[in-house]
Amino acid sequence: MNVVILAAGMGKRMRSDLPKVLHPLAGKPLLAHVVDCARSLGPGRIVVVYGHGGETVVRAIKGDDLRWALQEPQLGTGHAVMQALPHLDPEVPTLVLYGDVPLTTHETLARLVGAAGADKLGLLTVELADPSGYGRIVRDGGRIVRVIEHKDADAATREIREVNTGILVAPTAALARWLGALSNDNAQKEYYLTDVVAAAVHDRVAVVSAQPADVSETLGVNSKRQLAELERLFQNRVATKLMDDGVSLADPARLDVRGDLLCGRDVSIDVNCVFEGRVVIDDGASVGANCVIRDTHIGAGAQILPFTLIEDSSIGARARIGPYARLRPGTDLGEETHVGNFVEMKNTRMAARSKANHLSYLGDTVVGERVNIGAGTITCNYDGANKYQTVIEDDAFIGSDTQLVAPVRVGRGATLGAGTTLTRDAPEHKLTMSRTQQTTVESWKRPVKKPAAKS
Ligand code: UD1
Ligand code: CA
Repeated sequence: MNVVILAAGMGKRMRSDLPKVLHPLAGKPLLAHVVDCARSLGPGRIVVVYGHGGETVVRAIKGDDLRWALQEPQLGTGHAVMQALPHLDPEVPTLVLYGDVPLTTHETLARLVGAAGADKLGLLTVELADPSGYGRIVRDGGRIVRVIEHKDADAATREIREVNTGILVAPTAALARWLGALSNDNAQKEYYLTDVVAAAVHDRVAVVSAQPADVSETLGVNSKRQLAELERLFQNRVATKLMDDGVSLADPARLDVRGDLLCGRDVSIDVNCVFEGRVVIDDGASVGANCVIRDTHIGAGAQILPFTLIEDSSIGARARIGPYARLRPGTDLGEETHVGNFVEMKNTRMAARSKANHLSYLGDTVVGERVNIGAGTITCNYDGANKYQTVIEDDAFIGSDTQLVAPVRVGRGATLGAGTTLTRDAPEHKLTMSRTQQTTVESWKRPVKKPAAKS
C-alpha cells in the first residue's frame, strides 16, 4: 500500500508563523502523529504533500522512509494528491490521510483498508449531529454515489448527517485516471479529491465505507481551540490506558504525557504531572503533585515528592526525591538516596544511602555511599571557562554551608566542618575545615538613630 499525507494547507486560523502541521500535540508535531500512524500500517511508500511552511515542514519531520511532494500553489485536495502520483507504486492501493487529523487509530485505518481491498474505493465516513462544513455522503439505495461539498450542497443535501472525513483508500491506477479528469468547476474553484467518488461509480468501481471507533479520530485542527480540545482527547486516551494497566491516577484529567510513559505495578501519580520523552517508573514508585519528569528512569518504590523537576536522570530504588528538587541531565542516584528541597544536581552520581537534604548545588560530582551532604553545600565546578569534578568518597560528612572548589576530593570517612571553603583535597577520616577565628568585640556599641532635626 501507498500512503499519501496531505499537509500543504496553510492553517490561517492558527494565527501563527509555525506551519499548522508542525503545531505540537502531546509534544509532537501533528504531522508526526499522522506519519507514525501511517508507519504502523507498514506501507511500501509514504508521500507527504507539503506546501505552506515549505522546507520548515520537511526539516521538522524525520525519516528516510518519507518522500516529499511539493504542492505549489494549493488548488485543492484532488490537486494535492496529484502531486504525489509520480511517487506512488501503481500496483498497490493508496490511502490518503490528512496531516492535521492526528487522532486516527491504526485499527480504524486497517478496517478501512481491509474493506476496500485491492480494487474498491473506501471512504471513512462518520455521522455528525452538526455536519455543517463537511462534504456530505450521498447514497442511493444504500450505495454511496457521490460526495457533495457543503459549499456546493443544496438545502436537502445539507440535511445529510453522514459526512466525509477526507480519509480514503483507492486503487492507484484508477485514482490517477480519475484525478486526471477532475475539473474545478465548483463553489471553491478547487480540484476536489471527493469528486473521485462519482468517477468511481461511473466506472463501476465499488465504493465502500468504514466508520471510526470514535468520532474524535476524524477531528482536524484548524484553530488553537481545536488544538487544545484534541490535546485533552489525546491525554484522556493515554490516562485511560494507564489506568487500565493498573496505574493509580489521582485525576486522569490532570495528567500530561508527551512521549512514552511506562509504568510497573502499583505506581501512583498525583495531579498535574507532566511526563516528557521516555519515562520509565518501576513497581511501587509514586510521583507527587506538580512534577515535571523527562527521559528518566525511576526505580522501584522510589518516592518523587511534589514540585520536583527531573531530566535525563536515573533514580534508584526506594530513593526519596523532593519536594522542590531539580535534577538536571546526568543525575544518577543510587538506592535509598535522599535529595531534598531546593537541591540542584547536574551530571552527578550519588551512590546508595547518601543524602543531600537541603539547599545544595552538586554539579560534576561523584558521591560515594552513605555520604551526608549538609544544608547549603555547593560545588564550585565552574571557573568561568572550564568545568571540574568533585569527588566525595564513601561515608564522608560534609558540614553545612561548605563550598567545594573543584577539582577537589574528599577522602573516605572525612568530615568537613561547617562553613568550609575546600580548595585542597581533604584526607580520609580526618576533620578538615577552613574558618576564621570567632571573635567578640567587647567595646562595640550598636548605632542608635539620631533625633530628627526640628524645622
Ligand atoms: C475536505 C473534504 C471534505 C471533508 C473535509 C473533512 C475535499 C474537497 N473536501 O474539506 O469532503 O468533509 O475535508 O475535514 O476534499 N490540503 C492540501 N492542499 C490543498 C488543499 C488541502 O494539502 O490544496 C490539505 C489540508 O492541509 C488539509 C486537508 O488537505 O490537511 C483538507 O483540506 P481542507 O481545506 O481542510 O478541506 P475541507 O475543505 O475542510
Ligand atoms: Ca478541514
